[in-house]
Amino acid sequence: MCGIVGYIGKKQAKPILINGLSRLEYRGYDSAGIATIEKSGLKVVKNKGRVNDLSNTKGINSLEGTLGIGHTRWATHGKPSSTNSHPHSDNSKNFAVVHNGIIENYSDLKEFLQAHDYTFLSETDTEVIPNLIHFYFNSSKQKDNLRFLDAVTNACKMLKGSYAIEVLSSMYPDNMIVVRKDSPLVIGKGIDENYISSDIPAILSFTKDFYLLNDNEFAFISRTSIDFYDSNLQKINKACQNITWNATAAEKDGYPDFMLKEINEQPKAIRETIGSRISKDSKTIIPDLNLNKKYLNTINKIYIVACGTAMHAGFATKPIFENLCEISVEVEAASEFRYRNPIINEKTLCLFITQSGETADTIAALKLAKSKGAKTIAISNVIGSSITREADYTVYTHAGPEIAVASTKAYTSQIVLLAIIAIYFSEILEKNSTKTIELKNDILLLPSKIEEVLKNTEQIKNFAQKIYKEKDVFFIGRGIDYSVAQEGSLKLKEISYIHSEAYPSGELKHGPIALIENDVTVISVLTNRLLVEKSVSNILEVVTRGAKTFIVTNQELNQEFDEVIKIPKTNTFISPVLSIIPLQILAYYISKEKGLDVDKPRNLAKSVTVE
Ligand code: F6R
Repeated sequence: MCGIVGYIGKKQAKPILINGLSRLEYRGYDSAGIATIEKSGLKVVKNKGRVNDLSNTKGINSLEGTLGIGHTRWATHGKPSSTNSHPHSDNSKNFAVVHNGIIENYSDLKEFLQAHDYTFLSETDTEVIPNLIHFYFNSSKQKDNLRFLDAVTNACKMLKGSYAIEVLSSMYPDNMIVVRKDSPLVIGKGIDENYISSDIPAILSFTKDFYLLNDNEFAFISRTSIDFYDSNLQKINKACQNITWNATAAEKDGYPDFMLKEINEQPKAIRETIGSRISKDSKTIIPDLNLNKKYLNTINKIYIVACGTAMHAGFATKPIFENLCEISVEVEAASEFRYRNPIINEKTLCLFITQSGETADTIAALKLAKSKGAKTIAISNVIGSSITREADYTVYTHAGPEIAVASTKAYTSQIVLLAIIAIYFSEILEKNSTKTIELKNDILLLPSKIEEVLKNTEQIKNFAQKIYKEKDVFFIGRGIDYSVAQEGSLKLKEISYIHSEAYPSGELKHGPIALIENDVTVISVLTNRLLVEKSVSNILEVVTRGAKTFIVTNQELNQEFDEVIKIPKTNTFISPVLSIIPLQILAYYISKEKGLDVDKPRNLAKSVTVE
């Protein structure tokens, strides 16, 4: 949560910072601010509201300076207000800081500083940081640049929690210091200029050369140099990485919103995620994984751990692992898993799915599994993200940058990649080759089938217009279709603010059917040939009680229903990749019909870097 950006170079920093912040707004959007160093010293402009509102904030027009830092906030400590917005300064107004993360021991640090006569203006945890830097700056025995660095490293030694921090000082008008621990931060290298950001896409239009900081690494940055240090002020060497993403991948590219663009990018995302990992006639290759038969034969349990949509990708793929590898699989929310002392040992294999690679609960769950002796595999979409530095192995989805808060192409890419991993395990274990060959062929056909589904949006849009005023919507399905119902329900509630629940169809009679009355909308997913009759009976039960129905199916139905969306047939194991798409589109059009901000739904942020 929260996005941070920085610039140091020859150009005016303000427009570059505002541009970067608007690209990072998906990470939080309740307040924004920037600080630069002008001839007269540090200048801070900040306010409650979106990045756009900064242009009406007092002081913004006259703000100058060729180095600066910026922040877009998702409030954790203290309500959204101008005072609580970042950047925060120390009492002497010599240091300004922006911070993404949470300082867990900020109350103790505040007391410590108050005992040394520091005062505080805001309710935030962040305000202790510039004041600690000031405190250590005054007591430092180091000289020149090392004194600034010494103050920042000593301040960070006091912090418990997570942080990506940028620091400016009026005493060092040509430098800035950045550091990270458990929160993302990248440095983009330019010619006579350098950029800092919470993620790569926000500054991809300026440079493709990036340094990825590890935890507790500090960078001392000038216009022409970037020097890296550890917390003991020892210099370290870091390699610069060239990122091959295309800058336009992070633009709307003619679409009204990122979400619609990303829904339509699914054929490409899946094609690239498949890449050369599977082909019809040869064995599956996943160069990032090197697990052998001896090891896989020892595994008696697989955990798939993730949050939100990524967890739903886990639910959707549990049956693939169980069927192809004959290993029992449990799927769990990372926020539960990390606190319940799960039974894990070296015979457990743990997969962690996270688009951003920054989700605090998922990273903590991975650390727990590792500490108990399990091998850990991260499935992420973001190269070099935090989780990839913790996991034993990382396998990437190649969905391209996902900017809309509601996840779409990452979900379908995760399902495809997990299916490929299951096939890979199954081939190593020499299990049922007929099933794996069939599944491989069907995976290869997915992109063109998704293109077919994407052609049929008019019917869905019309249904959205009929139901956008609803207060409650129900989603039902059996087996793998239930996992899609869960994801469809999440999509609807997060971007349209309509209350929705997903139930296994067979559970309706055990309670939820009491809620069905005239005109209630029930959305059903129905792709499993073997369960068609049972599922249709469940749908008829709600129709009898007056429900409106919207059915996503690849089966021939003999009865008439209000709205039936036909999707192409595919292997049942990967049917969620097709059946979720009409539900993504439905949620999208309902949100648009209600005039909401589809890409930035209220109270949410794209990466949840706090628990
Ligand atoms: C919903 C959504 C979230 C994320 C969840 C995990 O549309 O996007 O539920 O799936 O916050 O995020 P990652 O995958 O980045 O760990």
